[in-house]
Amino acid sequence: MNLTELNRIATAMVVSGKGILAADESSGTIKKRFDAIGVESTEQNRRDYREMLFRAKDAMSQYISGVILYDETIWQDAKDGTPLVRLIEQSGAIPGIKVDEGTQALPMCPGELVTVGLDRLAERLKKYYERGARFAKWRAVIDIGSGIPSMTAISVNAHTLARYAALCQAAQIVPIVEPEVLMDGDHDIDRCYEVTSRVLNKTFQELRVQRVALEGMVLKPNMAISGKKCPKQASVEEVAEKTIRLLKACVPAAVPGIAFLSGGQSDEEATAHLNAMHKLGPLPWGLTFSYGRALQAAPQKAWSGRPENVAAGQRAFSHRARMNGLASKGEWQS
Ligand code: 13P
Repeated sequence: MNLTELNRIATAMVVSGKGILAADESSGTIKKRFDAIGVESTEQNRRDYREMLFRAKDAMSQYISGVILYDETIWQDAKDGTPLVRLIEQSGAIPGIKVDEGTQALPMCPGELVTVGLDRLAERLKKYYERGARFAKWRAVIDIGSGIPSMTAISVNAHTLARYAALCQAAQIVPIVEPEVLMDGDHDIDRCYEVTSRVLNKTFQELRVQRVALEGMVLKPNMAISGKKCPKQASVEEVAEKTIRLLKACVPAAVPGIAFLSGGQSDEEATAHLNAMHKLGPLPWGLTFSYGRALQAAPQKAWSGRPENVAAGQRAFSHRARMNGLASKGEWQS
């Protein structure tokens, strides 16, 4: 493992002014997104949609540091035969790959999940590296509810995240470690804070046990935020203040960067929260976005599967990418 090179990539992924485009929706998830805009989820439509994003020059060259791809996409070619991975590289962004294989029910823990995909991961990482991937992503899901999360779910998922991260670094790929505490539910921001704190502490404990080099990884956490159905929604300032307090308490400064998931926040909320956090600096790590929905909802709507809407889709994507790029420097204004 070349840690200097891993650290160089991780640092580039969270460089100020840029963030990560999470375009790694699984076939099931992208179908849901396409259903919402009345587009059939065929392999060609998925290719055309993602090609539209990756060819959005303004967004890709100025505000996007890296793109997380799904397995299907990393092997796909653009209409003119150029591999989609090359389009990303040509724009100056770094290609990455989602390598988890989704979740399964966790035995003995009703309602809780464990992320799977470690079998054969070492061989798969080799092939992804050859194709151009320089970072990977693995998402663990922790739900908040009555009596959950259990320590079992937190511990099993943290162990699995660390197993994945160690395998990535051995394959010279920067792991994005994503333990997502879901914002579904009616819990308040303090409960989210408390659960996320337990999850992050356990995750870093496992990373250390398994000898993962913190300098060669990126953390992708949720923010400390009210559950979607909580009657009392925390303000932008409270989310920013509690999230920074939480991360300072749990994330070692050796980690080069933190890139948030949007997790179901609206486009503007996700931008406003990141921006407000940068008003609370200086911060010990790079702090930016790795948004899926908060970057893509607008371009999906503008595109709606019509070739004549490609320019409009790219404009919508560039706008959100620019707003989040500004937020990653605390320079966004509503
Ligand atoms: P959202 O920003 O839509 O939560 O997606 C980010 C992601 O990669 C989830 O794994």
